[in-house]
Amino acid sequence: MVFQWIGIATTTYLAIKLVYYLAQGAYLYFFRTYPDFNKYGKWSVITGATDGIGKETAFQLASRGQNIALISRNTERLKNVAKEIESKHNVQTKCLTIDFSDDEEIYDKIADFLQGLDIGTLVNNVGTDQEIARFLEQSNLSLIIRNLVRLNIMSILKMTQIVLPGMVEQKRGLILNLSAFPILHPIGKYAIMNATKSFVDLFSRALSYEYESEGITIQVYFISSKFLA
Ligand SMILES: *[C@@H]1O[C@H](CO)[C@@H](O)[C@H](O)[C@H]1NC(C)=O
Ligand SMILES: *[C@@H]1O[C@H](CO)[C@@H](O)[C@H](O)[C@H]1NC(C)=O
Ligand SMILES: *[C@@H]1O[C@H](CO)[C@@H](O)[C@H](O)[C@H]1NC(C)=O
Repeated sequence: MVFQWIGIATTTYLAIKLVYYLAQGAYLYFFRTYPDFNKYGKWSVITGATDGIGKETAFQLASRGQNIALISRNTERLKNVAKEIESKHNVQTKCLTIDFSDDEEIYDKIADFLQGLDIGTLVNNVGTDQEIARFLEQSNLSLIIRNLVRLNIMSILKMTQIVLPGMVEQKRGLILNLSAFPILHPIGKYAIMNATKSFVDLFSRALSYEYESEGITIQVYFISSKFLA
């Protein structure tokens, strides 16, 4: 008898929980409101903008009326994506070919390229996950260290350094850090990469704390079809 009641109670609890999750999912899917990007400024800057999530984000922002500054490695693809954006949405685009694994001088070029634009949104999308072995077993550890630091850490710090002063001056700005996976716990073979992600996470939260009161919003998006829908 007692076990029967425990069984019924447990089943009821799980059923309620299931309904709750389904309702929450439906709510997020249908009602989630996106930031009003135009309220922050006319231009969005997207790093790593020609493939996958970065490209999809560029289209989403353009569909909401944002002009798009695309920074990426491949000139040909940049041109194609920019053309596609302009033909689909009635916005302006600007492209700059940059390899974020090159040394720090690239940021002078980026600063020149962005000079004078009314930038409301920065999307930090560039990054790499090329690490594939235990620390000492990488085929070229120096290269892996250099690339991971440049692509996953330096890019975010330097892009923020370039774009934030204008945002602070305007008292508005949105910095999005896109991420596919929430960090739960480290797994083998990705020590450096997983650690760079924690860096970005902590940096984003700390920066948000420092600049929230000046109208700057820094958000972390775990990309799912919800953001892109
Ligand atoms: C490893 O990468 C460095 C660049 O950090 C490069 O100079 C070197 O030639 C590479 N070594 C090998 C064996 O590929
Ligand atoms: C570490 O990186 C790998 C490769 O991208 C990823 O699959 C894994 O989820 C990461 N782990 C954490 C804890 O972030
Ligand atoms: C953005 O921050 C989240 C955690 O808040 C982190 O998981 C993610 O890796 C960060 N994005 C990048 C591109 O590093």
